[in-house]
Amino acid sequence: MGPPSAARPRVLSGVQPTGALHLGNWLGAIRNWVDLQNSHDTFFCVVDLHAITVPHDPGQLAENTLTTAALYLACGIDPEASTVFVQSHVSPHSELCWLLNCVTPLNWLERMIQFKEKAVKQGDNVSAGLLDYPVLMAADILLYDADLVPVGEDQKQHLELARDIAQQRINARFGGRDAAGESTPVLKVPEPLILKEGARVMSLTDGRNKMSKSDPNEGSRITLLDPPELIRKKIKRAKTDPVMGLEFGNPERPEADNLLGLYALTSGQGRETVAEACASMGWGAFKPMLTDAVVEALRPIQERYAQWRQEEAALRSVLLQGQELAAHVAEATLERVREAMGFLPRPRG
Ligand code: AMP
Ligand code: TRP
Repeated sequence: MGPPSAARPRVLSGVQPTGALHLGNWLGAIRNWVDLQNSHDTFFCVVDLHAITVPHDPGQLAENTLTTAALYLACGIDPEASTVFVQSHVSPHSELCWLLNCVTPLNWLERMIQFKEKAVKQGDNVSAGLLDYPVLMAADILLYDADLVPVGEDQKQHLELARDIAQQRINARFGGRDAAGESTPVLKVPEPLILKEGARVMSLTDGRNKMSKSDPNEGSRITLLDPPELIRKKIKRAKTDPVMGLEFGNPERPEADNLLGLYALTSGQGRETVAEACASMGWGAFKPMLTDAVVEALRPIQERYAQWRQEEAALRSVLLQGQELAAHVAEATLERVREAMGFLPRPRG
């Protein structure tokens, strides 16, 4: 039996609960999730199993998981429209990961850019989990027969890997044939959804590096929970250049491109309007405008976040409901893969 065809196309995505989410996570990923809720069958998980692939603080993991879930809701994920859950609460994620591990060539993993970058940072302390990270991510996606996976640009290679595992390693080897001789896939092959705008938000202190949770310099990112004063301070200190006027697309001026892009998105005016309005504006006039736009864009998120955190019982109940729904879908897919790979069926009693 192949993947069932859902009435609406399915979407799955997730963010790691590794510290405060920043503008890149929001503009590159979560903002796009919100738009998909009404047209798609949407699943959003907090990928806590991914968060332990680098050394983590056990005293912080649960709290960060709740914070991340509350931020999803604060950013506009509607628990009535989407399934919001915690990855480790649905054990088929780990189990499918193992099955996929056994068919994924080691050299596919060794060439992942993110692995190489993170491995350098870990020195001698690289876990097998860090290498395996993209296989777990493939399991996350494939368990839900996702059609679309909205992510930032940095996840493109991981999405390609998930597609290759599904197509070449599972469907090609373990798929069946129907009565007409047509091949029946075991897993749905997902497509990435990477929107151009916001897909790569860069660091405030270096326009050639992406904004990242793991940058030791906190001034390099604006988190979704930064108070207005802190946002003001960070933007004031953000790297600029000596040129007058802001512009898009000049490779010599990555900071101008990045900050103007942030202004276009957070002010809601769009790229053309801001490019025209800021074409001859100096940095001194631009930065306070950008600050106000970012503060105003984050204000409703921060207000809703505070509400969800006050109503922790409600938040936990969203996650319980999400877990039940997600488990139902995930278990069925896992069973399909187990059967295709030839496992003895589990006794039903
Ligand atoms: P992570 O913080 O690695 O868990 O990433 C969660 C989501 O945010 C993924 O979809 C990433 O592609 C996206 N993302 C992370 N950093 C950025 C960035 N600087 N610009 C745009 N998207 C990003
Ligand atoms: N690897 C993703 C990131 O760092 C997070 C992630 C894990 C994910 N599982 C996923 C994203 C499944 C989309 C779908 O950004």
